[in-house]
Amino acid sequence: MIRFDILTVFPEMFASPCGCSLLKKAADRGFIAIHLHDIRSHAEDKHHMTDDAPYGGGGGMVMKVEPIDRALQSVPATGEDVPIVLMTPQGEPFCQKMAEELAGHQQIILICGHYEGVDERVRTHLATREISIGDYVLTGGELSAMVIVDAVSRLVPGVLGNCESASSDSFSMGLLEYPHYTRPAAYRGWEVPDVLLSGNHREIEAWRRRESLLRTRKRRPDLLKERALTIEEKKWLDMFIDP
Ligand code: ADE
Repeated sequence: MIRFDILTVFPEMFASPCGCSLLKKAADRGFIAIHLHDIRSHAEDKHHMTDDAPYGGGGGMVMKVEPIDRALQSVPATGEDVPIVLMTPQGEPFCQKMAEELAGHQQIILICGHYEGVDERVRTHLATREISIGDYVLTGGELSAMVIVDAVSRLVPGVLGNCESASSDSFSMGLLEYPHYTRPAAYRGWEVPDVLLSGNHREIEAWRRRESLLRTRKRRPDLLKERALTIEEKKWLDMFIDP
């Protein structure tokens, strides 16, 4: 069981992604719990302001530190070593390895930034780490927090039906996945490779490993550099020269 506490000014944005498919099933079955905390309800001034003009001038608004701090204080800590993550394009790039590491925690707190930025004191005094989901700028941290919740949740034992599915994913093996097919065996003349219809499991297994390797070399050669190759893999790479 892993608990996510999400601090946001738009809690309603989470209703749909968390309310259907695998995440809903995972929550209904008690594998994950998602708690939303509306930062605005922790703003104590008359207008419930969560942002303000930047010191030093300039355009845009900056999210205030006090409502975020108060929202954080309202989150019950279920243990020690709970990551307090600020979602920001300035953070560490998110990847499968990081998802695996986060899945080892009992609780994760995610702070969704907004507007032009977040008061630097959130970074320096409240957050314990900062994560980016990619080199582009979103309108806020909500979508990126959902990405973290999704990628981490599917690694929680029991969330995926078949316990092999997460460990044979793209990236967790350091390779992209092999091609998948289902019925019909031919559609508009587009045929499923014979080997998959052969019933020869050893050959199918070898074909999948090879396709996975060749596809990775073609699309993501950077991943191969980070991975030690087996003798069989080296042989395949020499045998199948990219067109
Ligand atoms: N907030 C805005 N853009 C973001 C990004 N790329 N990653 C994480 N949080 C963000």
